[in-house]
Amino acid sequence: MNKKKLDKIRNMVKLECESSGSEYNWFFDGHLLAVEKNAEFLLNKLPNADKEIVMLGVWLHDLQRFRFLKGDHQKVGAQEAEKVLKKFNYNKDIIEKVKRLIKCHSCRDVIPGTIEQKILASADAMASYHNNFFLQVARMKRGENLSEFKKWALEKLNRNYNNKIFFSFAKKHIKERHKVLKAFFELI
Ligand SMILES: [Fe+2]
Ligand SMILES: [Fe+2]
Repeated sequence: MNKKKLDKIRNMVKLECESSGSEYNWFFDGHLLAVEKNAEFLLNKLPNADKEIVMLGVWLHDLQRFRFLKGDHQKVGAQEAEKVLKKFNYNKDIIEKVKRLIKCHSCRDVIPGTIEQKILASADAMASYHNNFFLQVARMKRGENLSEFKKWALEKLNRNYNNKIFFSFAKKHIKERHKVLKAFFELI
């Protein structure tokens, strides 16, 4: 794994998020660092997975959001990731694997199949239980109707927990946080 290039990409993404304006300047600390932490937790337990592919996915999977690009979150995100990876001279094999990883990270049209794809989707879902994620989104969407926000939060929690976390040990790891957050949003 080329740690130097990975660190450069991490820094590039950090800078981009932090200079993207109030809508997404929280995104590096509030989401991506939590995806990194959870991906590392999963990779430690699943040592056969390709760490480089997963970590490139961690930094590049949500480019469509904080670059404010129209179109499909996963497909456009994969195209943007390809541009970054080409700029950093990654080979075709790595680029294709990372693109496929990004195209299924939301578990909507395509369901993760490889271990790396399952790790990224799980880490992405687990991240919403850390780093004030829901409070940050509430702040970002502060014009939105509160009951609509609660509905969105509960749907996201249930979808994340039931459809995006692929490993039973990972579910167990997050179970208490899931219960607490769910109870919080269910309070009237
Ligand atoms: Fe995403
Ligand atoms: Fe994400």
